[in-house]
Amino acid sequence: MSVELKASPIIKKHLKTLRLRVNELKEKGVTPQLKVILVGQNPASVIYTENKKKFCEKIGASCEIIKLDETISADDFVKKTAEIAADKNVHGCLIQLPLPRQLSQLNVGELIPSEKDVDGFHSENLIALLKNQHSNTALPPCTPKGIMTLLDFYNIDVAGKNIAIIGRSLIVGKPLALMLTNKNATVTLCHSATTNIEKHTQHADIIITAMGQAKFLKRAHLSDKGHQIVIDVGMNKWSNDETCGDVDFQDVVQLVQAITPVPGGVGKMTILSLAQNLLQAAENSLYL
Ligand code: GUN
Repeated sequence: MSVELKASPIIKKHLKTLRLRVNELKEKGVTPQLKVILVGQNPASVIYTENKKKFCEKIGASCEIIKLDETISADDFVKKTAEIAADKNVHGCLIQLPLPRQLSQLNVGELIPSEKDVDGFHSENLIALLKNQHSNTALPPCTPKGIMTLLDFYNIDVAGKNIAIIGRSLIVGKPLALMLTNKNATVTLCHSATTNIEKHTQHADIIITAMGQAKFLKRAHLSDKGHQIVIDVGMNKWSNDETCGDVDFQDVVQLVQAITPVPGGVGKMTILSLAQNLLQAAENSLYL
């Protein structure tokens, strides 16, 4: 029997602390406020941003989704973003990805000042990971942070473990490799040019899929010992009414020790991390 590593008990555990922190901020005259910049109407992005807003409101923080036209020019977009981020009542700001083609050349990670960069994409926030610096001022990327919180909750110690990550994005794969390395794991970062991915995944204690290919990871990628833990970051459309991860859940579930569900796993953890970063940014603003 494999264990399902669900996000819901973790969210439940953290809600009380998050609400308490919001109340303490409000007592000091600060209502934590998030601005989410959404360009166009990508259906997945619309749902993700609404979920972020709902969670902020659930903990008593404020969140506004700023909707910009799909055809906005790069100049106008940069101006608008700077205007939103400069507001002293805004503690956190994020630009929902992906962006339309005319904005794809922008260095989006740097458009929001590091202290309000609740996505953790700014170079200053990433450098803190590279240097393994622990401070309250650096805001870590949300999905990798959420995965670390999940592993910790389920008492999965990564020190000394072999971990295969599939996907080298700046949002997930690369920063996650750094976080796990900082916790003494041995990380193999696989990607689209990796030959024989099975060789790496079969030898891993933990497999993390983050490449956005529906039901990619199958039983052939696994060891036959049944000891592996699988963390699925993917959120893909399989058919009109099915959302699935990068893992073929039904194919592997009986062959692993533990696995995250999709939905109900890493996606919810990302939003928890976002709320934690927002509160951190709002608390830090008291000392600026
Ligand atoms: N699109 C998919 N995941 C993310 C995320 O974590 N942050 C932002 N800003 N956009 C995304």
